[in-house]
Amino acid sequence: MSIIIYSIGLIASFAIAKSILDFLWFYFLRPTNHWQKFLQGPSPYAVVTGATDGIGKATAKELYDKGFNLILHGRSEKKLKDVVEKIQSVKSKSTGQIQDVKCFLEDGSEAGIDFEGIAKKFEGLNVTILVNNVGSFTIRPERFDEWTEEEHMKQIRLNSLFPMFLTRAFLSSLRTTACARPALVVFIGSFSDETPMAKIILYSATKHFVRRLALGLHADERFDTPDDKAVSFMYANLGPVSSQMVREPPSFVRPSSKLFAEKLVGTFGCGRQMVVPYVGHYLMRLTFTTLPEFLVAKMLSTSARGLIEEAIKKSKSQS
Ligand SMILES: NC(=O)c1ccc[n+]([C@@H]2O[C@H](COP(=O)([O-])OP(=O)(O)OC[C@H]3O[C@@H](n4cnc5c(N)ncnc54)[C@H](OP(=O)(O)O)[C@@H]3O)[C@@H](O)[C@H]2O)c1
Repeated sequence: MSIIIYSIGLIASFAIAKSILDFLWFYFLRPTNHWQKFLQGPSPYAVVTGATDGIGKATAKELYDKGFNLILHGRSEKKLKDVVEKIQSVKSKSTGQIQDVKCFLEDGSEAGIDFEGIAKKFEGLNVTILVNNVGSFTIRPERFDEWTEEEHMKQIRLNSLFPMFLTRAFLSSLRTTACARPALVVFIGSFSDETPMAKIILYSATKHFVRRLALGLHADERFDTPDDKAVSFMYANLGPVSSQMVREPPSFVRPSSKLFAEKLVGTFGCGRQMVVPYVGHYLMRLTFTTLPEFLVAKMLSTSARGLIEEAIKKSKSQS
């Protein structure tokens, strides 16, 4: 009996020690310059969707400063033009030059988007990174079955289908790149994919879809192609970030979009398929995954209630 208890204790100690060492390695010791792998070849480009605000805008700026040319996506012509002008108003910190910035407009929640047409527009460019950042949710007082089918479809199209079909359209060009140099597709996720919240049911579900898609694509690309010649895929999981979507001031558990973007880009090329780029989010997630489920559900519903009620009040006053 004592040998069994001793063995269980030993295995548990190894598991805990491994988690602690991994935590220290990933957040404090690991080199964070592996994004340099994606700067190879002639004029490397990074595509960033939802680049007119929040995390997308900050990620675009971060990549520009690191020497990437950009292909930016937005839905508002004016906002996109302003972002492009602002980014190009200064030289890239690393190259000391004005990098090229191209863009495309598309409302990601609409049906009938010509994804092949978008990819064709940028054919021949050395695209090494695609950041599927665009995403959003709407909190409304109506219950799930009171939303119209089209309202549900808009959430699914924006958060799941837009990243999926855009990736599909760019895949053959990314595969060509990957034969010669590393190529990466990033999907921006959300903690809501594993700790669902009231009133954003489809948002949680669509983020879960995107997570499975990223991990599945990584495995699928390696089925026929050797690892070092295959496109890599990464799902970045995150908690709250101060942005247009979450208009709360930054704090330890809610970094600014700029700080989050810095940490995000620091994970590019790290070799993992699922990352939590920001340490405060990791600790938050650890709490969720360690505490009993009923306690997490209670904590979430208490903390979310105020947020939801406020959003509902706002949406009522706007309508
Ligand atoms: N902020 C958070 O706390 C948080 C937490 C977890 C996950 N995330 C994820 O992080 C990503 C970025 O979020 P964020 O906080 O940076 O949001 P944000 O500040 O609201 O920015 C969202 C970006 O997506 C664009 N966008 C929204 N709806 C669109 C549509 N229908 N068609 C085309 N573009 C559209 C916005 O365009 P406009 O500028 O025109 O509005 C903007 O460029 C999302 O995938 C989100 O799910 C965020």
